[in-house]
Amino acid sequence: MPVEPNGVVWPGGQVIIDGGRIVAVGPAGAPPLPGDVVIDATGMVVLPGFVNAHTHAAMTLMRGLAEDMTLMPWLEKIWQVEARLTGDDVYWGTLLAGVEMLASGITTFADQYFFCDDVARAVRDLGMRASISRGLIGTGPDPAASLREGAAFFERWHKAAGGRITAMLGPHAPYTCPPDFIAQVVAAAKVLNAPLHIHLSETREEVDESLRVYGVSPIERMANEGLFEQPVLAAHCVHLVGHDLDILAQVRGGVAHNPVSNLKLACGVAPVTDMLARKVNVGLGTDGAASAGTLDMFAAMRQAAFLAKNRNGDPTALPVATVLEMATLGGARAAGLGDEIGSLVPGKRADVIIVDLHRPHTMPLHDVLAAVVYSARPGDVKTVIVDGEVVYAGGRPVRVDPQMAAEQAEFRARRLVAGQ
Ligand code: NI
Repeated sequence: MPVEPNGVVWPGGQVIIDGGRIVAVGPAGAPPLPGDVVIDATGMVVLPGFVNAHTHAAMTLMRGLAEDMTLMPWLEKIWQVEARLTGDDVYWGTLLAGVEMLASGITTFADQYFFCDDVARAVRDLGMRASISRGLIGTGPDPAASLREGAAFFERWHKAAGGRITAMLGPHAPYTCPPDFIAQVVAAAKVLNAPLHIHLSETREEVDESLRVYGVSPIERMANEGLFEQPVLAAHCVHLVGHDLDILAQVRGGVAHNPVSNLKLACGVAPVTDMLARKVNVGLGTDGAASAGTLDMFAAMRQAAFLAKNRNGDPTALPVATVLEMATLGGARAAGLGDEIGSLVPGKRADVIIVDLHRPHTMPLHDVLAAVVYSARPGDVKTVIVDGEVVYAGGRPVRVDPQMAAEQAEFRARRLVAGQ
């Protein structure tokens, strides 16, 4: 299932990889050459790795810590714990997240957090691909220092680890970034030629507050302040008003739709079909495990489809081929990686997953695309290849010890909650 062209499946097809890149995709034909490594995917589907377009990976450490709460008490509880985080905590939290994401067929994730060197170390060790940004808060104690740190991280890690790691600047959100700070971030982004990763219009309250204070929506405010002069990965975009859709239609990059997080936090339902009708590029994200509970891309795909159908009162809305495109190519484009990954096309980097569809909950196979979107689960992912290297096989990550990741994350989470 190459995703490009959209909706196509080659029964009995093959994918040929050489030197980290895809060299051929299509119906089975060429016999293997001596020395080739052959992976038999009979009964399985081969597709591009999923791109998790928005997450905070290390927040696995806070999974389950603050549940069924409204936003402000939730944030206060999380901030208490985050204030004690060390770089090593972030490393192990990200490693655990990576193990969970690999099991869900995710090969690339767009992350916004802090201690980004440690996020990058974990990505490098896992063998995954990521676009990493340091969250920048303009209302914090030393905004200029956070921007310097974010820019230094960009210079250190952009296109590192053989190109698997890319970076962005990450202004957290309009309500934490006043106009003078956005101006500094945009200026820095232009100097670095950096894309931007930001939360936009996640809640009704955020939009109302912006209209009250600035007279325009958060999205229109960001347009006025020059944010979209750079490529932007815009997380959420749930509540669109006025000219917001017109603005998003011009954005280089795209929107990261996070249906599970939006549902769980009762934020509302993003108008995804309206965005797609206006040719807005939309990817799919899980958001962090502390708010969404899981980093499950299959859940994200299903919820995206169900929400769009119900929002429109139309079961034909957001069909499976469109959902799969969002989960792969849409996310890749939103993260500025659309030329390199997101579909199985000769010349692209070989980020490939193999999903077992001979499972009780996926059979019989009338519709391969529907089986992946509506019926498959993380445990069905058998093999994950990133940049031509097998990094997950037989239900286990290849490069890291999942037991160690779980134990370290558990131990560190206990310590953080105990206030040490
Ligand atoms: Ni987020």
